[in-house]
Amino acid sequence: MTTQHSNSSLHQKDQAWSGRFNEPVAELVKRYTASVDFDQRLARVDIQGSLAHATMLGATGIISAQDVADIQRGLTEILADIEAGQFEWLLDLEDVHLNIERRLTEKIGDAGKRLHTGRSRNDQVATDVRLWLRGVVEDTLSGIRALQLALLDLADAHADTIMPGFTHLQVAQPVTFGHHLMAYYEMLGRDAERFADAYKRINRLPLGAAALAGTSYPIDRHMVAQLLGFDGVCQNSLDAVSDRDFAIEFNAAAALLMMHLSRFSEELILWMSPRFGFIDIADRFCTGSSIMPQKKNPDVPELVRGKTGRVYGHLMGLLTLMKGQPLAYNKDNQEDKEPLFDVADTLLVTLQIYADMLRGITVNSARMRQAALEGFATATDLADYLVKRGMPFRDAHEVVAHAVKAGVAQGRDLAEFSLEALQAFSTMIEADVFEVLTLEGSVASRNHVGGTAPQQVKQAIAQARLALGQKPA
Ligand code: ARG
Repeated sequence: MTTQHSNSSLHQKDQAWSGRFNEPVAELVKRYTASVDFDQRLARVDIQGSLAHATMLGATGIISAQDVADIQRGLTEILADIEAGQFEWLLDLEDVHLNIERRLTEKIGDAGKRLHTGRSRNDQVATDVRLWLRGVVEDTLSGIRALQLALLDLADAHADTIMPGFTHLQVAQPVTFGHHLMAYYEMLGRDAERFADAYKRINRLPLGAAALAGTSYPIDRHMVAQLLGFDGVCQNSLDAVSDRDFAIEFNAAAALLMMHLSRFSEELILWMSPRFGFIDIADRFCTGSSIMPQKKNPDVPELVRGKTGRVYGHLMGLLTLMKGQPLAYNKDNQEDKEPLFDVADTLLVTLQIYADMLRGITVNSARMRQAALEGFATATDLADYLVKRGMPFRDAHEVVAHAVKAGVAQGRDLAEFSLEALQAFSTMIEADVFEVLTLEGSVASRNHVGGTAPQQVKQAIAQARLALGQKPA
């Protein structure tokens, strides 16, 4: 959709608010204050809101049934024109609201001029943003769910694949890859809760607040709320037109979700590096280098990590936008749209591409296993073995530290020592020690809710499938 930047047929007197002014607004100011270039994106919800408002105006007898019918017809035609890309957006008409209203009046005459009775652009735009955001949250929730399902499938395939678990990016203890992936399932679950919770506060109707104080017409706000599927009406007119906390909340939830995906991306990038060699990402999500023929770069996770910055940036932008505003509406709020649109676009496409990418990951289980064998990952298991035989934990920690030191010097893992060599560190050690020194023994022993044992991972996956409404496999 393009915007007509100046239209000689449109004179100052035609501006919706021009009656009070003695000179036309400067051309540069017109461009500076206009929002139609970006807020035309709200056209569909703007019309949806107007249709509900008109229906209420008719039902309460504020305008005639004939006017309502004309408005309905006119707006329906306008929506069709907009969606066909045949609507002429005029910069002189400032924003999406005035563009549509002007076109309506051109089409149906005075009835079009009656649509704005008992309403202001202030409560109109607040309603539009909420309606639009509602749809975005619904799409976000299905995007999260699709990503969770992709995670579950990968975790299912690797419920007993062993990799090193890290703390400080140093090998810590063996974990199952499925368990590692299920950590992200949990994070996404909390993200979904946050969006669903924000939805409750988004889904209230500002219309009826008018410019700031309400209106003297006998309106029925509950009817409008019901027609538009809002859970209720905003209870204070000044608050209704001015606060954008619901949008900031959405952005905050988006920032947290992107933070999670950025962490995941960082891991995918590391794992795909030949130094790790844990995974490969399908070629369709990677690019090469124009100079180094051997390169295959994990562009998608890198961009997710990068785009997280812009979502954080928009959150700071919106918070800052609000902080100095006195009640009630101020034009500052027009600046809420571009960041919000960008957050929504970034978030939704990221969720979609991420789910696809997870399905394009191949896992090198042998490399994961080898890495777990190289880092004395079962040292804690040896300490626990001694504790179970009566040694105090601090002493056991010390014994194992000496064994690890010897292992480092000799270049061998604990499981590669002979029984006699191990007994030199503690006489409590017996032949059954090798059961706990194996990677499989180590992960299988962490068999409680939240633990890394394959049995627990499979249970967690089954529960997750149930929670997402999937039939058990
Ligand atoms: N384009 C404006 C916005 O986005 C619409 C509301 C304008 N209201 C006003 N009184 N100028 O906030």
